[in-house]
Amino acid sequence: MHWKIKAAIQNAIAVLPASVSYPAQFWLQRRFGGLRAMNPVDRLSAGIETWKRIQALGQDPSGKVFFEVGTGRVPVVPLAYWLLGADRTVTIDLNPYLRADLVEESIGYIRDHAGEIRGLFGPLLREERMAALLEFADGGFSLERFLSLCRIEYIAPGDAAHTGLPDGSIHFHTSYTVLEHIPEPVLESIMVEGERVLADNGLFIHRIDYSDHFWHSDERISAINFLQFSDRRWQRFAGNRYMYVNRLRHDDYLRLFESTGQRIVMDEPKVDPKSQQLLQEGGIRLDARFSAKPLDILAIKGAWIASRKAA
Ligand SMILES: C[S@@+](CC[C@H](N)C(=O)[O-])C[C@H]1O[C@@H](n2cnc3c(N)ncnc32)[C@H](O)[C@@H]1O
Repeated sequence: MHWKIKAAIQNAIAVLPASVSYPAQFWLQRRFGGLRAMNPVDRLSAGIETWKRIQALGQDPSGKVFFEVGTGRVPVVPLAYWLLGADRTVTIDLNPYLRADLVEESIGYIRDHAGEIRGLFGPLLREERMAALLEFADGGFSLERFLSLCRIEYIAPGDAAHTGLPDGSIHFHTSYTVLEHIPEPVLESIMVEGERVLADNGLFIHRIDYSDHFWHSDERISAINFLQFSDRRWQRFAGNRYMYVNRLRHDDYLRLFESTGQRIVMDEPKVDPKSQQLLQEGGIRLDARFSAKPLDILAIKGAWIASRKAA
């Protein structure tokens, strides 16, 4: 679908009263979007990737407490943490988007593709937990029992900037393709709150998607298409609760992480070669907000960033 048509539809749905808007958005995603068939592999992989990076940073995540910003529809990343050996995960979302039917479908996928899932985790899988999950999947589904089995504490509506958690009570502050959807001042508050709730030797570890999200479903545009628009013009296309992205770039995020005194311990940017070529050939007219930035920064389409809390 042409991205401007998608933007117009999303804008129209977003102005409806919440009681109509949320079901309409869900229906669209379920009928035409990413919720057509629940496949948890991508998000399970996200959990595994997070886990491996923590290990690569010299920490043992087993038996530790994870925190996830932005649960979304199904807490698959927290499920992965549990299958890997986490003690528990606190996952928080501003919106109570979690859906029991989608959770059940995702568990059904794991039951029906147990071999594939075991292969995905490899030797990192806690087999006794996988066996418990499969046994659970064969019984009658209940969201409460699933959350309790996998030691997932779901807080929604809740704000990662004001968690109410005790000081130093979590070990890993994580998110997967969430931070780009949050306005910069709120991100700053989330970092300050993260500093408070993180244990002294804890880590922030986040995967951020910097790309124009309309690019995900419109191959006619580039991953940096949105960098041509002023904030005002972009607001008209995507300034709604469903499509909002802050358009911060990699250098902005590094600054944000460091703004509370954190020390960056892993910086893994992923350059998009097509965006790089477009920028080098002058194939995109950048808005003034971005035109002073180095092309190498602008060509980065996503990154993993990890930091330690301030001493
Ligand atoms: C794009 S969704 C990602 C959901 C999920 N992590 C995934 O990968 O499918 C971003 C989520 O972040 C949530 N969110 C936005 N601001 C937040 C905040 N301040 N605290 C907690 N969650 C927030 C939104 O409600 C939304 O569910």
